[in-house]
Amino acid sequence: MLSPVKGGTYIDATIGLGGHSEEILKMIGQDGRVIGIDRDEEALRRTAARLHDNRLVLKKGSFSGIEEIFGSSGMTAADGILFDLGVSMMQFKDLGRGFSFSSEERLDMRMDITQEISAWDVVNEYSEKDLVRILKEYGEEHKAVRIAGAIADYRVTKNIDTCSQLAGIVARAVGRRGRIHPATKTFQALRIEVNREIDELREGLEASLKILKRGGRLCVISYHSLEDRVVKNFMRENAREKQLRLLVKKPVVPGILEMRGNPSSRSAKLRGAERL
Ligand SMILES: C[S@@+](CC[C@H](N)C(=O)[O-])C[C@H]1O[C@@H](n2cnc3c(N)ncnc32)[C@H](O)[C@@H]1O
Repeated sequence: MLSPVKGGTYIDATIGLGGHSEEILKMIGQDGRVIGIDRDEEALRRTAARLHDNRLVLKKGSFSGIEEIFGSSGMTAADGILFDLGVSMMQFKDLGRGFSFSSEERLDMRMDITQEISAWDVVNEYSEKDLVRILKEYGEEHKAVRIAGAIADYRVTKNIDTCSQLAGIVARAVGRRGRIHPATKTFQALRIEVNREIDELREGLEASLKILKRGGRLCVISYHSLEDRVVKNFMRENAREKQLRLLVKKPVVPGILEMRGNPSSRSAKLRGAERL
């Protein structure tokens, strides 16, 4: 969908370990260029060690600042921009960043470890009312009031330090039913709050429009309905205003074989549009 061309300039706004950039680099010839952005220094360090390529420029930052980051690389217009949202498997599993409810890790969930606020602060310091709000808004959690109440009761006597401690509090508050862990939505909500994921996405998409060339392509892979809704609405509104042309009406989703080979692609949705 991105259709990289020879000599083109591409932005990988979420470079992670560089899987997508590596494929783009194969298609853009010697004069092409990729600017890879990530707010996780460890991801950039590993990608720099893995991909030695003078056509690739790595930049630390949040993609809400994509316009300034791109400008500081001396460039003004891009042929394509790719967002592959959320956390990487490396962040989820390897780094002890406290994203997973089954772990004994400290509640953290920061993609950028230089950022001040972590999940520990949200869980232990936010008012009960604010916890209800983020659980509803970012977790679409129907039992938000009960869960926030259980968190508030618990922390009267003790801090909530670890992921498994929080998962246990949520499970005791709402009970366990089915295969999905009852704390799944709570953890999603915390992650989105800690990393400002929805605001980042809105700001990143708006800024992308300003730096895409005519005919340039914007592609976004999202992993949950809140994100996908933001992307869908953004693309539709700009299509109505003749700023973008939609490349697909419905998002592209993985087939059964891809899901079998790569289970974490299960919830992925890819949308794309061309700048008019
Ligand atoms: C799903 S992973 C991308 C994986 C990548 N496509 C690859 O091939 O390895 C998402 C990456 O985006 C980064 N990220 C998420 N939100 C970001 C933001 N607002 N600004 C910059 N980087 C962000 C994360 O740190 C993570 O490394």
